[in-house]
Amino acid sequence: MSKSAKAAPEQRRIVCVGMCVLDVIHVVEQYPEEDTDKRCLSGYLQRGGNASNNCTVLRQLSAPQVEFLGMLSGSAAFGFLQEDCRKRNILIENCPSTGMDPPFSSVILNKATGSRTIIHSNPGFPSLEYEHLKRLDLKNYSWVHFEGRNPESVLKFIQDIRNYNKKLTNPKDHIRISVDLEKMKEEILALGEAADFVFLGKDLAIHLGCNDPAAAVMSLYDRFNSQSELDDTKPAIICPWGAEGAGCVDPNGKYTFVPSKPVSEIVDSLGAGDTFCAAVIYALQKLQKSLQEAVHFGHAVAGYKLGHRGYDAIKDFHQGK
Ligand code: FRU
Repeated sequence: MSKSAKAAPEQRRIVCVGMCVLDVIHVVEQYPEEDTDKRCLSGYLQRGGNASNNCTVLRQLSAPQVEFLGMLSGSAAFGFLQEDCRKRNILIENCPSTGMDPPFSSVILNKATGSRTIIHSNPGFPSLEYEHLKRLDLKNYSWVHFEGRNPESVLKFIQDIRNYNKKLTNPKDHIRISVDLEKMKEEILALGEAADFVFLGKDLAIHLGCNDPAAAVMSLYDRFNSQSELDDTKPAIICPWGAEGAGCVDPNGKYTFVPSKPVSEIVDSLGAGDTFCAAVIYALQKLQKSLQEAVHFGHAVAGYKLGHRGYDAIKDFHQGK
């Protein structure tokens, strides 16, 4: 896209910033006993990582312009991760690259219970710095979503986005900012305060001492200072609470619980949370839904995904199913 012309609103991109990792997946009849030698029902490799999964789901939902921004591995054996992005029209043109092998996860999908067990390995893969983030030419974007990590660099970049928004005359052109707070590190909470939409992970909420979704979103909401440059508003906060549904609070402090429908069979729960997150963003940005409606849509897409292996089936999702 040319540096000078501003992209038409519908052509502006959604970019997800975070990790692209290799998932090595084993589907097993039941969870193995320690120190045994077992065969799995099936095994396969898949591109993973929260932000990378978010991009996959956004494309399956038919968001036209989707970009991933994260450190890529130039190591030949992992070329398929980039190839998979290209195949799905996920833009990766602004990604820096390193010769190091990428982080990977060993994943066990237990057919008996539907659980997914992830053992993640990341021996010092370089993280994104502010100079990588600022490569993005902001006029090409409508939404920037961050995995909650590298708070120093990300906060600096969020400030750039806010300054950019301030100069725009039409509020419709504002870039919206969301952040996925999953890691159990208190320092990432500052990212939530600076965003417009926060996805708060259940485990982090429990780590912060909250035992139900209402306490989770309201205590974070109360903890956040309002953004004076944004008419003293606070971010909307969404906290998925397992199979029950999600608690959410809007920027005015109104709390709602949006229940989810029970799923008949869990085929693959890996990345269900990333699917929810991407579907909520899609519903807010592309379908112009309200917060509650978007969360409802997020549940429906994530529920549909749970019944299918991987993310490809999401392209056949129709609301009402
Ligand atoms: C799922 C996922 C996997 C990846 C792991 C990283 O949410 O993104 O694809 O292996 O989490 O923590």
